[in-house]
Amino acid sequence: CGIVGYIGTQAATEILLSGLEKLEYRGYDSAGVATVWEGDVHCVRAKGKLHNLRSKLEQLATQSQIGIGHTRWATHGKPEEHNAHPHLDTARRIAVVQNGIIENYRELREELKQKGYEFRSETDTEVIPNLIAELSKNADSFLEAVRQAVSHLQGGFAIAAISADYPDELIVVRQQAPLVIGFGQGEFFCASDTPAIVAHTRAVLPLENGEIARLTPLGVEIYNFAGDRLKKQPRLLNLSPTMVEKQGFKHFMLKEIYEQPGVVRASLEAYFNTEVNSGESFQSPVKLGLPEQFYADLEQIHIVACGTSWHAALIGKYLLEQLAGISTQVHYASEYRYAPSPPTANTLIIGVTQSGETADTLAALAMEKERRQGKEAKYQARLLGITNRPESSLGHLVPHIINTLAGIEIGVAATKTFVAQLMAFYALAIDLAYHRQTVAPDKLADIIQGLRQIPKEIEATLESQEKLTEHLAHEFAETQDFIFLGRGINFPIALEGALKLKEISYIHAEGYPAGEMKHGPIALLDAKVPVVAIAFPGTVYEKVISNAQEAKARDSRLIGVTPVSDGEAGEIFNDLLPVSSVDELLSPILTVVPLQLLAYHIAARRGLDVDQPRNLAKSVTVE
Ligand code: G6P
Repeated sequence: CGIVGYIGTQAATEILLSGLEKLEYRGYDSAGVATVWEGDVHCVRAKGKLHNLRSKLEQLATQSQIGIGHTRWATHGKPEEHNAHPHLDTARRIAVVQNGIIENYRELREELKQKGYEFRSETDTEVIPNLIAELSKNADSFLEAVRQAVSHLQGGFAIAAISADYPDELIVVRQQAPLVIGFGQGEFFCASDTPAIVAHTRAVLPLENGEIARLTPLGVEIYNFAGDRLKKQPRLLNLSPTMVEKQGFKHFMLKEIYEQPGVVRASLEAYFNTEVNSGESFQSPVKLGLPEQFYADLEQIHIVACGTSWHAALIGKYLLEQLAGISTQVHYASEYRYAPSPPTANTLIIGVTQSGETADTLAALAMEKERRQGKEAKYQARLLGITNRPESSLGHLVPHIINTLAGIEIGVAATKTFVAQLMAFYALAIDLAYHRQTVAPDKLADIIQGLRQIPKEIEATLESQEKLTEHLAHEFAETQDFIFLGRGINFPIALEGALKLKEISYIHAEGYPAGEMKHGPIALLDAKVPVVAIAFPGTVYEKVISNAQEAKARDSRLIGVTPVSDGEAGEIFNDLLPVSSVDELLSPILTVVPLQLLAYHIAARRGLDVDQPRNLAKSVTVE
């Protein structure tokens, strides 16, 4: 979900709406805005996307200079207007927006009902304005009432609250869900993510867990939950408003697919040494800034992640095992947190999350951090985050970060951040292979040389594939199922290709290891089910081709993602999505590109909302 708040000298509604537009990628089931005007709270909410809210707000002629807004991704309660935020207290004097989950809301609601408060929604959030109203009876300020209310709440949340009785105050709270304050001239903003406010100011202060702030037209005061005033300085964001514009592309997703060569270049520059490195004086060709104790007697790696980041982690596992020789396991964060592997010595845990805010990934890492407390320093050091947002909650949680440098990604379906995560894993695996001496230095140098060619190979792929995939997309207007096959290092790309397609086109798609197809999914195959096979020369090429033959024999239409156009490949594939011929080890960065484009064009062709597919949110900050 997304939160935005404003207090200052301009009309609040437009600022809130344009901020919500920039946050829509975080959820878009319903949206709402509340302002204070002439002694009353005015709250307008609408089901569905923001334009519904915008048209409702056009009928409202208030000139308020304070307000809060919210765009929702439903957790408790269906995406209906009465469940949309902001929520008001029974007397309609206080309005609250919230991201996160109030775990004890049922108890609180019962207590408040007994005191005469009424509830109009099924949400957990509605307890908050009522609780603030109750506590306001004995508190001497709005801030104090909110502070006391927060002490009754369990869970993780970010809150913004306004009150008709305090028309010059906006109170914001952060506890395990992101919230940032923006500093303008005589005006202040708050938001769950910076794109919402970057059009107005670049001076920001991210709140930390356990902090509460009072924003007035005169300034910002920050307190901890105990009520002690804190001293804090804003910092300047390295993000310009144009980074959150489409720049001529029809969708953010397409723009982001096209940004991938630049993203790979950025990691090459940041993490790979340029000087020729050979012979006696050979040093790690990678600079990740990790301390020495990180490497000593490392025996095992566990990676936790969700969604596309989990797919990047699977490729990471391949690289870490095959290059650096370290046994690596990849876990869904939501599983690991409740069924962790037994704690073992010399284990590194890596969390991969582009947003740095995915609740399950953070919780799995927090659990792991906790159980390492009190152990030797090296265990505590062996927590690593791979993220595109080093300033996120993940950045606060773990001692070491690899920043994936992809720039902000708006399309809900991850593309460039995935490629950037792959680059982080190449860097890490090469670094560990160097330290563990599992690969000869000149072989490592060859791999890096190959990586340096990747940006122009992605460019070539984009150029040749754009029309091809667009053309191919026409043929799948009625298709209901797709199978994606891959093996070895390209098996996770089959998963990612299937995920991209189902996320944005709503076509059922399954990614499978090509060799496993005959143990089940083959039963699904017929002429109506196309099969996309990634067949890259190397360890498993012949195997994938024969698995593809098995699909062909069941009448499936076969689409090949491969650098080979003659021989068997030329014969069996009905359609080819050619990619350049590179070392198999580097191939996933290329093979994913036509699959992204295919998913994009099928969804665009079907007239769907590519950047904001139904039911999804960019970062899921609830468990
Ligand atoms: C959501 C998004 C996915 C994303 C996943 C993990 O489900 O819709 O695109 O891959 O979260 O997000 P993270 O920010 O942790 O990488």
